[in-house]
Amino acid sequence: MNDTFGRPIDYLRLSVTDLCNYRCIYCMPEEGVCKRPHAEILSIEELAEIARAAVQCGIRKIRLTGGEPLVRRGILALCRTLRAIPELRELTMTTNGSLLPQMAGELKAAGLDRLNISLDTLDPARFAAVTRTGRLEDVLRGLDAAERAGFRGTKLNAVLLSAEPADIRPLAELTRTRGISVRFIELMPMRQSLTLPERCFVGAEYVLRALPELIPEGTDGVAALYRLPGAAGTVGLIRPMSCSFCSRCSRIRVTADGMLKPCLHSADEIPLRGLHGEALRRAIQSGILRKPAQHTLGRTHGSQARREMNEIGG
Ligand code: 5AD
Ligand code: SF4
Repeated sequence: MNDTFGRPIDYLRLSVTDLCNYRCIYCMPEEGVCKRPHAEILSIEELAEIARAAVQCGIRKIRLTGGEPLVRRGILALCRTLRAIPELRELTMTTNGSLLPQMAGELKAAGLDRLNISLDTLDPARFAAVTRTGRLEDVLRGLDAAERAGFRGTKLNAVLLSAEPADIRPLAELTRTRGISVRFIELMPMRQSLTLPERCFVGAEYVLRALPELIPEGTDGVAALYRLPGAAGTVGLIRPMSCSFCSRCSRIRVTADGMLKPCLHSADEIPLRGLHGEALRRAIQSGILRKPAQHTLGRTHGSQARREMNEIGG
């Protein structure tokens, strides 16, 4: 269905956990998040019920997010259940990739269509510093495992934390031989990321400066696409800080504790827990109709969301 600004809303980002095995400096405090009582987090059955109701409201694409979705128990069963919804066009997942070496095959078999893997740098020491607990080689093995398992059209998301060509180019060079899309995302000012120094907030134009040979190739959703000459894959720029982004927004979000968020950066939340059937559908429709025209993000005033990314799922 359309929202009040005429934007077709057909995309649900469903957070399945707020837990993660990484502690990225822009997302989580070093000590991690307090583990919430199980009962506060949606069960696999509740997640499936919300997804079904959302599809009845016109959602055609669902992305499973977190935290890290692959640390959620029951994630394969959830994928199988969602894949069985006939009207659902695409089932995708955003993951840090660290558990893909073990899980890529099972995820493919469970019906997951596509993967977005978060990877901010190809420098092992920098990777360890950014994720605090992660090892680059796990994610690189995960990327290979996904390819071997038959995943195609994988997107690699890199939060831009440095304007240095030496940090940008190696990621982009991955697209030379692999048919993946490497997308650079501007860091958004959220609770945790606002603790980072100013130099971490890098405009996407630095990617164009670091890679002057890029050839423009249109847009894909919220990403502006480019290609290195002769490359198999594309380089994308995602600029959440600019407002043209919002006019193309097609999404709603549901947090792991069952709140529908019409906009990532707004404090507006609609509780879905305990609702069923028509009441659940009406709540989802009201969420779509409460989508604001745009966010008010600026470097000086951060996100109005009263939550961290690990709770919303990006
Ligand atoms: N700004 C931009 N991207 C972020 N992510 C997490 N926090 C931020 C932020 N403040 C990204 C992660 C991952 C996705 C879930 O969101 O790196 O790619
Ligand atoms: Fe985990 Fe993603 Fe947050 Fe990093 S950004 S701590 S991988 S949820």
